[in-house]
Amino acid sequence: MRPRNRAFEQLDDYPFVRLEEEKRRIRARGMRVLDFSIGDPRERTPRWIRERLVRGIPERASYPTAAGLPELRRAVVRWIERRHRVRLDPDRHVLPSNGSKEAIYLLHQALIEPSRERRVVLIPDPAYPVYEVGARFAGGIPERIPLDAERGFVPDLDRIPPETLQRTALLWLNYPHNPTGGVAGLELYRRALELARLHRFWVASDEAYSEIWFDRPPPSALQAGTEGVLAIGSLSKRSAMTGYRTGFLAGDGELIGLLRKVRPSQGVATPVFVQEAAIAAWGDEEHVVEQREIVRRKRAILLPILRSKGLELAGSRATYYLWIRAPGDGGGGAFAQRLLEEGIAVAPGALFGPGGERYVRMALVPEVEECEEAAAILERIL
Ligand SMILES: Cc1ncc(COP(=O)(O)O)c(C=O)c1O
Repeated sequence: MRPRNRAFEQLDDYPFVRLEEEKRRIRARGMRVLDFSIGDPRERTPRWIRERLVRGIPERASYPTAAGLPELRRAVVRWIERRHRVRLDPDRHVLPSNGSKEAIYLLHQALIEPSRERRVVLIPDPAYPVYEVGARFAGGIPERIPLDAERGFVPDLDRIPPETLQRTALLWLNYPHNPTGGVAGLELYRRALELARLHRFWVASDEAYSEIWFDRPPPSALQAGTEGVLAIGSLSKRSAMTGYRTGFLAGDGELIGLLRKVRPSQGVATPVFVQEAAIAAWGDEEHVVEQREIVRRKRAILLPILRSKGLELAGSRATYYLWIRAPGDGGGGAFAQRLLEEGIAVAPGALFGPGGERYVRMALVPEVEECEEAAAILERIL
């Protein structure tokens, strides 16, 4: 066999690929599938953002730089200051990214040295699958921190053994949380930073869902400090721009400096016309209020049905995910299969780690009318 990275051999198909096959199988029977399985909002990107992108397409499109347009870095810094009351330097503390996924994946390569003892990556369980894949491919050792419903899916960092913390290179936090919709307070970030300072690891805070909230705007890790911390933001969910691939990395000046050096070789510079659209999007909040309002309407359609059927909704406080405890003994897999046979696709919780086995995740991404159709189906079958 010709050489390849051993991490490939341990890699299953991206979990959602299998789910796609299941959906195709059901559709092949002539059934319609209402798709609540993937977190890709079907809302339209506001017209003025699309127009800004088109206006930004130059006659000659040269290579963009990984550091991005100064105007974009300034737009991000202004947004962080408005939203989180944290002041950053656009030249030292911020870099654009092609959405948050590549930033999450590639960050491990900058921080992990496979031959070092200190290469543990602490990953919540359940979690967005890319942290683990990124850690493995960089030669890190992923270790899961359990998230419990009783604690609102916020980890108890003080239960992590100090021996583990001494071997930790990076701790991942992600609030509002995918898949549970859990929300963390500032005290979690404060404690994470204290431990990180004591044991000398990095804290990465994936804040892709920071704007999809329904009671209070959730805090950012940056509010607890910037030293040793990297926050990752995205326009995917905030501005319905998943296909544009645009987000940011913000925080520790030393780490941003390091990434500024390595990212040009990683080939992840954002096209200039996408950056133009991003500048426009970060500068406006009105469309974000509308985005939230749409998700709120979907929640108002589905939450009462689920509750009236006695289903237990854990977490589900922010993001557009409902984290539903599967009824019966079959766990999330069997419940997801039962719903799929009735034309509703949801994600079995086990796709996000062993901690998700008893749950399914319902992403409120289909349009409002489809949520109404799903509510009618749930009313009939549950
Ligand atoms: C927790 C979390 N982080 C990051 C991402 C990636 O988002 P993007 O790369 O579109 O910014 C997702 C996508 O669903 C996610 O759920």
